Amino acid sequence: MKKRPTLGDTPPEEFRRQLHELADWIADFRQDIESLRVAPNDKPGAILAALPAEPPEQGEAFDKILSDVDQVIVPGMVHWSHPMFLGYFGWTTTAPGILGEILSAPLNVNAMTWRTCPAATEVETVVIDWIRQWVGLPRGFDGVVYDTASVGIMHALAVAREEAAPFVRERGLAGRADLPRFRIYASDQAHNAAEKAAIALGIGEENVLRVPSDDEFRMEISLLRKMIAVDRQSGFKPMAVIATAGTTSTASVDAVVGLARLCREEKVWLHIDAAYGGGFAILPEYKWIIEGWSDADSIIINPHKSLFVPLDFSVLYVRELERLRRVFTLAPPDVLRRDTVQTTKNYMDYGVQLGRRFRALKAWVIFRSFGREGITTRLRECVRLANILADWIKSDNRFEIAAPVSMGVVCFRFVDGDDSKIDHLNSEIVEKINASGRAYLTQTKLRDRTVMRIGLGNVLTTEEHLRRAWGMIRETANELNREK
Ligand SMILES: Cc1ncc(COP(=O)(O)O)c(C=O)c1O
Repeated sequence: MKKRPTLGDTPPEEFRRQLHELADWIADFRQDIESLRVAPNDKPGAILAALPAEPPEQGEAFDKILSDVDQVIVPGMVHWSHPMFLGYFGWTTTAPGILGEILSAPLNVNAMTWRTCPAATEVETVVIDWIRQWVGLPRGFDGVVYDTASVGIMHALAVAREEAAPFVRERGLAGRADLPRFRIYASDQAHNAAEKAAIALGIGEENVLRVPSDDEFRMEISLLRKMIAVDRQSGFKPMAVIATAGTTSTASVDAVVGLARLCREEKVWLHIDAAYGGGFAILPEYKWIIEGWSDADSIIINPHKSLFVPLDFSVLYVRELERLRRVFTLAPPDVLRRDTVQTTKNYMDYGVQLGRRFRALKAWVIFRSFGREGITTRLRECVRLANILADWIKSDNRFEIAAPVSMGVVCFRFVDGDDSKIDHLNSEIVEKINASGRAYLTQTKLRDRTVMRIGLGNVLTTEEHLRRAWGMIRETANELNREK
């Protein structure tokens, strides 16, 4: 057997052959994905048991590594890109997205500053502005790309905290003995990234208050107003309100116009978590989503949830981005001293992260490949499928719709049976379908009741796939109901 080189890189001709092999592997995987189980049904530890525990001493051939991917890794995965994967918000894999990811691999830059990679910095700026234009945000909003919305919200709330107590950056929370406890408000449907941010920022998990939501799972503004008043009377300092456009369970959209008014009156930071819903604002018929956004202080949009960009890619917009920079910029470390050109953006100044990959490249490839037209057509198809599914559910009186259908999300419930067992039954339907490997759904709790949930968004999912999934749900409900 040929000895593997221990110095330098793979010889160019061999690398070219491997790349061609990989290109075929990727094309075959994408073409045949439907023949795979959507999810494995193994016990925890199955992958660990199939892989050697000791690290390799000698280098191995790429063919051998790729064959282990086929034998061990691929069967051990939940295939989010499978057309029958209907969990969470659906998924964003597309061929241009795969090309964009591949393209960024050989470039492998570190865009800490403008100087360390001008193109990565400037393409990021361009892509952020394209999304701003598509969504219809005013020019005063500019942004930064992070990996996830959870990280973005932490940064947004760090700015809110600094503006509420403009000495914390230097002296910390203990820097003034009379500093009141901050409060953050979000609806009972909002994502718990708010609590994580509060933990990281020293605000404390219990200072995130959950505001009850109305019948359509939107924050009750009148209750928020009362909670803020009670907190002020008790000596707390209301710091931020988080509105959600596309909540995690039902994709409900909080009424931002009223919240923005209240935040202005109360002088608190308004953050909009549009991780999922923000992308839909590209559609003229969804422009209502952004009403009131121009008054927000910060907005998160996750193109990796609804704009066909692969994980991870999340944009935090801040009205007057300089407010974010002021909180995180430091004198550059000595090693970067000549690298920071102050007239341009150095994205390391806009967050805790120093090293930054060229995430914007994949978004740029996808947005150019699809164009606004391609994106809107695909989003509309996902809304159409969600509504078709809702019609099927409504036409079967053993099921009911559990929340207004919003964007690509449908929450529903099997209701034909003994009420005391119905929550368990709904949960079992989802578990049984997922264990079958033929489709993948999620379940959630709404007002303490278990409901099934389907998220559409995968470009490979067609009406026929959805019909198949609906058939499976009905059959599984019948089977489990008979067994009870
Ligand atoms: C509404 C909402 N916000 C934030 C998040 C967190 O997103 P990320 O995984 O990008 O941190 C989620 C995740 O599903 C979400 O649904």
